[in-house]
Amino acid sequence: MRLATEVGPGRRAGAPLGMPDPGGPEEVPAADAGPEEGMADRIDAGLLERVDRYVEELLVPADAALDEGLREAAAAGLPDIAVSPNQGKLLHLLARLVRPTRILEVGTLGGYSTAWLARALEPGGRLVTLELEPHHAAVARRNLARAGLDGRVEVRVGPAVATLRAMAAAGEGPFDVVFIDADKQTYPEYLDLALALSRPGAVILADNVIRGGRVLDASSRDPQVQGVRRFNARLAAHPRLDSIILPILRDQLDGVSISLVRA
Ligand code: SAH
Ligand code: DHB
Ligand code: MG
Repeated sequence: MRLATEVGPGRRAGAPLGMPDPGGPEEVPAADAGPEEGMADRIDAGLLERVDRYVEELLVPADAALDEGLREAAAAGLPDIAVSPNQGKLLHLLARLVRPTRILEVGTLGGYSTAWLARALEPGGRLVTLELEPHHAAVARRNLARAGLDGRVEVRVGPAVATLRAMAAAGEGPFDVVFIDADKQTYPEYLDLALALSRPGAVILADNVIRGGRVLDASSRDPQVQGVRRFNARLAAHPRLDSIILPILRDQLDGVSISLVRA
């Protein structure tokens, strides 16, 4: 847990979360106190973590195949950057709301989020997931087979922009759900290609759009932060998208964007 910054309820300005706080703790304006009177007026990282664990224990039962997949991915040397169990369940439920028969994922890793999403497919539905690294794809294929999902999921290896362009050119799709979770610099292009491959009413989701609060820093020279900032701005401005960003607790504060594609 790297969340160092305390978050006050009702806070609307001040140091970005996860950023060094130049001025020390801010005062919560008294006008915000009303309905929250009697509640703890500071939320610390330990509390956020306990709440996340509470939700997981209550609503996200351990799953042998998925948990084994995470162990296999770690044993194979893959980085520990899959979505959390709670976020996996969130993606699964958001996907199920649109009763999907076609799901597209950009960024497979060991197939953990893939499995959560594939389990949201209607009978006969299919998921295509795109991965640059052949080793990641191989681990994912094994994990998806162990989870009984290999008949429903296709892992395609290569740089995702090229794969997505080829899919659009071949008239593949349209997809009901798209989950973007590959290299962050390229998120803006992934959004355009996802839209080109989506049907009206589709849901486009993206991971890591808060990045410990570093997205609040307009002058960041981190190309991943800049890619996500451009992605978020594009979501906000896009005439075919209605969007929100949901903060999510990971090993740091992060966020998932949720966009509905208009007709
Ligand atoms: N969705 C996964 C995590 C994905 S991590 C989960 O939550 O379980 C990001 C993945 O994107 C990594 O496996 C990385 O190899 C892949 N990636 C990075 N750049 C890529 C690119 N240009 N095209 C396709 N995949 C890419
Ligand atoms: C990174 C990538 C991810 O998709 C993620 O969820 C966390 C971290 C990364 O590249 O560092
Ligand atoms: Mg991610």
